[in-house]
Amino acid sequence: MRLAIVGTGYVGLVAAACFAELGHEVTCIDNDDQKIQQLQAGDSPIYEEFLPELLVRHRGQRLAFTTDLKQGLAGVAAVFIAVGTPATEQGEADMSYVEEVSRAVAQTLDGYKVVVEKSTVPVFTHDWIRRVMLLNGATKGSFDVASNPEFLREGSAVQDFLYPDRIVLGVDNQRSSKVLREIYEPLSSGRYYRQETRVPGPADPALPRVIVASAKSAELIKHASNAFLATKISFINAVAGICEAVGADIQEVCAGIGADSRIGRAFLNPGIGYGGSCFPKDLKAFHAVARENGCDFRMLEEVSRVNEEQIQRFVRKVKGALWTLRGKKLAVLGLAFKGGTDDIRESPALAVAEMLLREACELRVFDPAAMERAHARLPKQGVTYCENAYDAAAGADALLILTDWKEFAALELDRLRALMAYPIVVDGRNLYDPTGMSAAGFIYYSVGRPALAARTRVETGVRVPAAARAK
Ligand SMILES: NC(=O)c1ccc[n+]([C@@H]2O[C@H](COP(=O)([O-])OP(=O)(O)OC[C@H]3O[C@@H](n4cnc5c(N)ncnc54)[C@H](O)[C@@H]3O)[C@@H](O)[C@H]2O)c1
Repeated sequence: MRLAIVGTGYVGLVAAACFAELGHEVTCIDNDDQKIQQLQAGDSPIYEEFLPELLVRHRGQRLAFTTDLKQGLAGVAAVFIAVGTPATEQGEADMSYVEEVSRAVAQTLDGYKVVVEKSTVPVFTHDWIRRVMLLNGATKGSFDVASNPEFLREGSAVQDFLYPDRIVLGVDNQRSSKVLREIYEPLSSGRYYRQETRVPGPADPALPRVIVASAKSAELIKHASNAFLATKISFINAVAGICEAVGADIQEVCAGIGADSRIGRAFLNPGIGYGGSCFPKDLKAFHAVARENGCDFRMLEEVSRVNEEQIQRFVRKVKGALWTLRGKKLAVLGLAFKGGTDDIRESPALAVAEMLLREACELRVFDPAAMERAHARLPKQGVTYCENAYDAAAGADALLILTDWKEFAALELDRLRALMAYPIVVDGRNLYDPTGMSAAGFIYYSVGRPALAARTRVETGVRVPAAARAK
């Protein structure tokens, strides 16, 4: 089928590349001229595993890029809107980009199309899109509006898209339902999974569940899913705080809670809180939706509060490990909001780095993908950008792990310790086993677990604070 995607960001570009991978002819449309030029020249504007391979495979064949909406929409069966929906100052979703695209699509319609919301939007958005389109020259029957929320996670976006748990189709009539089902048929039938060239995934992938709902319900499914996941993270972070207070181990507690099939182990990962371009803003937007519709959902405020507090707690932990912060040289591993991406939007790692800079620390930072973006955001003074984790650790008073990159969980500990001025690690992602770190000679702090002193004798001159005494 011929498809158009408007908005070529993290979601739009991945969706476009994956739709091309499924056999569709896709045109990506974006009003960012530089981004389109970059894509036309063969570069990817974002870091995402398997995306470069898909772009190479389909560019110029089934995948095209343009800034010209009219050209991009010519003859397509469906147009996916994947533009940003950032939070306004009041916490509502800013729908002005979606409105702008709806208006432009209405003015260029050249035959029946399904207009699909891929962006995360508040309930009733499909009604607004329809209304805007009718006011801008589109005639009844020349289009339908459907909701097809996206559940991919940055860091594993391509695999999430091609091996989803479920595909939600929010459709209000048969005609649009048929188009959307056909678009996803290679996944729902399992046909894609029998291709030799498929993107690596499970050996025997389960077929995704296709959930057909009203557009209104589909819009709510997305907001409620993100709100629930954020709640799960804040819940386990709050439990981690209790574990620290009583000397219990959050990993053991998580294993115990997660073994209950009604709860599940996923997303019970204590850390420095959630971030990224979705959870913080979607939580606010969902709260605003509830408020506007006369429903009191204050629980969501508490979820945000716990999340913000988690960053402060971490910085207090660094202080607890180092006594004073002024002038301390700290190795910072991770700037992206999570491993596997270069996205620094609402990154708790960056928030921690910024707080430490305000305390006059000197930071030696490293992130495998997010350095360029972070460079544009962090103050120039007090930050040294390093080649790798070991370079960052050289001469450091302590090492902080702020992002859960896989490679940060596999560091050569002897090498690291030899490089550092003091063998202190404050791990905001629980990437290491405390006993192993202690045996490797580190004074190790993590989240929701007792801090451990170095088991081997270390001539640090640093007294291990009471809170960090060995078990
Ligand atoms: N990033 C994620 O992990 C994720 C996951 C699921 C859903 N979502 C949702 O998807 C939507 C997009 O998120 P994103 O992270 O891809 O955003 P993004 O900022 O990376 O991309 C948005 C793109 O839209 C383009 N754009 C804006 N206005 C335009 C216009 N009028 N015409 C053409 N292009 C225009 C921008 O230039 C940009 O390239 C948001 O609603 C988000 O909540 C994001």
